[in-house]
Amino acid sequence: MSKKHKIYMCRNQRAGGAGCIHPSSTDIFEALTAQASERKEDIEIIAGTCLGHCSEGPNAKIHGGRVFNQIQVRDVTDILDTLISGRRAKSP
Ligand code: FES
Repeated sequence: MSKKHKIYMCRNQRAGGAGCIHPSSTDIFEALTAQASERKEDIEIIAGTCLGHCSEGPNAKIHGGRVFNQIQVRDVTDILDTLISGRRAKSP
């Protein structure tokens, strides 16, 4: 069954963009996955999609929302908070 909310994290390598496969990107992906599972929200972390910001990686994007560039593990909480606050802002 598909999750309600999605965050995409690029794990590709394109010309001019080694940041998406930086060794820290594995730690970031694992932190996103772990912290997402701890939240009460239904969040899926999806790896592998080029986000078109290849020279600014590691990159993550909230489905239908903001792109985060040059992210680090310490940014994971902010990314998830932004997803949740954006979702609440759209609620009736
Ligand atoms: S290869 Fe990562 S954003 Fe394009």
